[in-house]
Amino acid sequence: MSEVDIDLRGVADFTANPYPYYERMRAAGPVHPIRTDEFDRVWLVVGYEEGRAVLADQRFGKDWRATPGEMGGDLINANMLEADAPDHTRLRKLVARAFTARRIASLRPRVQEITDHLLDVMVPGGRADLVDALAFPLPMTVICELIGVPDLDRSAFRKLSNGVVAPESPQEEGEAARAMGVYLAELIEDKRCSPGDDLLSALIAARYEDDDALSPDELVGMAFLLLVAGHETTVNLISNGVRALLDHPDQLAALRADFGLLDGAVEEMLRYDGPVENSTFRFARERIEIGGRVIHSGEPVLVSLASADRDPGRFPEPDRFDIRRETQGHLAFGHGMHFCLGAPLARMEGRIAIRTLLERCPGLAPDPDAEAPRWVPGMLIRGVRKLPVRW
Ligand code: HEM
Repeated sequence: MSEVDIDLRGVADFTANPYPYYERMRAAGPVHPIRTDEFDRVWLVVGYEEGRAVLADQRFGKDWRATPGEMGGDLINANMLEADAPDHTRLRKLVARAFTARRIASLRPRVQEITDHLLDVMVPGGRADLVDALAFPLPMTVICELIGVPDLDRSAFRKLSNGVVAPESPQEEGEAARAMGVYLAELIEDKRCSPGDDLLSALIAARYEDDDALSPDELVGMAFLLLVAGHETTVNLISNGVRALLDHPDQLAALRADFGLLDGAVEEMLRYDGPVENSTFRFARERIEIGGRVIHSGEPVLVSLASADRDPGRFPEPDRFDIRRETQGHLAFGHGMHFCLGAPLARMEGRIAIRTLLERCPGLAPDPDAEAPRWVPGMLIRGVRKLPVRW
C-alpha cells in the first residue's frame, strides 16, 4: 500500500463542496498523492502553474497499459482523448473541421430554436427541474443532430452515459462501458445501412473507403466521445452557471441589467464551478519532477482543473464569483493538445441557454421545496442531478 496524503473517497462532503479540500491541499503544496477507486496512488496536481504545465507536457501520455490498475480496455476507449500522437492527431483531424468556430457559429439559429422550444414547454409550468427541462435536452439534441443521430433514444443513452462518466460503483462503470460499446456498434451499423449527409455517415464512409482512416474500435470510440463529451459537460455548464447566479443575486442583477456581460459571465461560470472537476488520467512516460515531487515512470496523474481555477496565485480572491473578472487562461476546457474540441459549441450553447432562460423567467429563483441536491458522484464531473427552480 502506498503512502497517500488524503484518501478522498472517505470524505463525505467532498463531492458536495470539494473546494475547501483543494484549498488546504494547495496551501500544503501543488502536487499530492491521493487514492482513487482506480489506483492506490495517483498524483493530484492542484496548483495552477503546475497543472497547466502537466497538460502541455508530452512526457505525460495517455497509454495506461504499462500501469497496473483498474483502467478498462473497452471498445469506447479507442478515442482521441485516450490517444497520444500520432493516433491523436489523426483522430482529431478527422472531425476538427466540424467543430471550428465558423462552423459552430452557423448552428446558432438552430440552437436558439431548440432552446426556445424547450422553454415554451417549461415556462407555463411556473416551476421545473432545470436539468430535465433545459440543461440536459439542449446539448443532447444539438450533439445528436450534429452527429446525425436525431432519433437516438435519449433516456437509454443518458443512463449508459451517466454509468460510464459518473458511476456509482466500479462495477457499474464496467457494465455501462460494455453496454455502451454494444449500443454504439448497433447504432453505427444502422447508420451504415441508411447513411445521410452528416458527420457520423462521413466517418463511417471514411472507415469503409480507407482502412487507415479509422479502425472499427475507433469508430465506436469516436461516436462515444462526441456524444458523451457533447452533453455530460454542457449540461453542468448550464446548471452550475445558473446555481452560481442564484447564489449571488448581485451578479444575477448585474447580468440581467446588461447582457453585454454575458460572454464574460459564462467564462466566470466555467472558472468558478466548471463541469470538469479533474482532467482524465495521464501517465508519466519517464521519471518527472514536478512541484517538488518525483513521479515515477508509469505512475498516474490527474490535474485538478477545479483547484487550478481557484488558485489565488492566478485568480485573486478565487472564491468570489465575479462576472466582470479577468478569467483568461482558465483551465475549464483543459489545455494543450487535448484542449476541448467542443469549446466553441459549449460556449455558444451556454450563452444562448442562460440568456434566454433569464429573459423568459424574470423571477427565476431556487425552488424552496427542493430536497438537498444530489451531486454527480466521482471526481471527473462536477454538477447536480436535479436543479429545482421556480419563477
Ligand atoms: C462546458 C462544456 C465542456 C467542458 C467544460 C469540456 C471540457 C473538456 C476538457 C477539460 C477536456 C480535456 C480533458 C483532458 O485533457 O483530460 C475536453 C476534451 C474534449 N472535449 Fe470537451 N468540454 C465541454 C463540451 C464539449 C462539447 C460540447 C463537445 C462536443 C463534441 C466536447 C468534445 C470534446 C472532445 C472531443 C475532447 C477531446 C479532445 C482531444 O483529446 O483532443 N466537449 N473537454
